[in-house]
Amino acid sequence: MRIKDCYNTADFRRLAKKRLPAPIFHYIDGGADDESTLNRNTAAFDTADLVPNVLTGAEQADLSTTVLGQQLQLPLFFSPTAMQRLFHHEGERAIAAVAEEMGTMFGVSTLGTRSIEELGRHKAPKLFQIYVHKDAALTADLIERCRANHFDALALTVDAIVAGNRERDYHYGFTTPPKLTAASLLSFALHPQWSFNYLLREKFDLPNVSHYIETGSTIAASVVEYLDTQMKRSISWDDAAEMRQLWGGPFAVKGVMSVDDAKRCVDIGATAIIVSNHGGRQLDGSRAPFDQLAAIADAVGGQIEIILDGGIRRGTHVLKALARGATACSGGRLYLYALAAGGSAGVRRAMERLRDEMQRDMILMGCRSVDELNESMLNERNGQTL
Ligand SMILES: Cc1cc2nc3c(=O)[nH]c(=O)nc-3n(C[C@H](O)[C@H](O)[C@H](O)COP(=O)(O)O)c2cc1C
Repeated sequence: MRIKDCYNTADFRRLAKKRLPAPIFHYIDGGADDESTLNRNTAAFDTADLVPNVLTGAEQADLSTTVLGQQLQLPLFFSPTAMQRLFHHEGERAIAAVAEEMGTMFGVSTLGTRSIEELGRHKAPKLFQIYVHKDAALTADLIERCRANHFDALALTVDAIVAGNRERDYHYGFTTPPKLTAASLLSFALHPQWSFNYLLREKFDLPNVSHYIETGSTIAASVVEYLDTQMKRSISWDDAAEMRQLWGGPFAVKGVMSVDDAKRCVDIGATAIIVSNHGGRQLDGSRAPFDQLAAIADAVGGQIEIILDGGIRRGTHVLKALARGATACSGGRLYLYALAAGGSAGVRRAMERLRDEMQRDMILMGCRSVDELNESMLNERNGQTL
């Protein structure tokens, strides 16, 4: 199987599974506990059906939308994800390059593997994902670096103040940086190309935070350890409001699920909410973003931008979210599998396939622009769920 044999996210997932040592693949693919939220995130889209309008004369579909002050050519952008150089040696560079080609935005994780300074030089719109750290100076420094390096938006992640329980990581022996353990040894040996790239290219690093963690303490051995040791657990709405003010630019709160919280985001003057459960990696048993979208759009639609994040594997998933009131969508695994499968060439093909699917399906829906998608084009399956 090669990249050109991949037509959809499921194909890229299969190829990623072949290319990556098992601990790395399962770090991307897995979720918390029983993974019921992870699975529901995608299954939720099948509880509503698109209802097209015909004979509308729609020949072309304009997919552009404006979100967080950025005019994007696609209503879908790259969610921030940690550790990208573990998945492919190009890492964040591949994502930044494809974002520019496709006219969309890319998110950069605090736990990214390329620096704010390097990524700031890419032309595509960029969002930095931040946490409230125990060390206020670290948070303030990250914000200053984003400002100095022309980041366009900041997203405060609020659903990861402690790390989720990702049991696949224990089963397969995932550690950061990767270590040879009894559980993972064979898998690294069976993927010599990955292991070669990992060992001989630039040393693994988390350049946005490593100098902070290294001074006075040891570098966090894993994401779990990072979240559990560096995050301020008692984070409050005051922290969020303060951060919004300190930053002063387009600001999103990532990981909002309740209607009350969505209203509080309006109150603190956030530009957008990212309706998300961290891709099912944190609180298992929590509701899927798409299931919760109608309630949120009813309460705060028109007052704040709504970004639907999680479970998107198909262009039609994006169209359903837009019809239900989202301003735009974002996704993680939909590009991470492709990155692992083939670096920038994989990500480019995955995003082109999704773009073409959205365009084709908008025309089939009878819509010329994303504004024309609305709730009347979406029907619940009479309470029947998957
Ligand atoms: C491997 C991986 C790493 C992630 N790292 C981060 C992170 O560092 N910060 C963050 O806010 N979200 C992170 N996320 C969550 C994504 O931003 C996004 O919310 C999630 O991937 C959406 O679900 P999807 O993968 O089904 O699209 C990560 C997700 C994955 C799969």
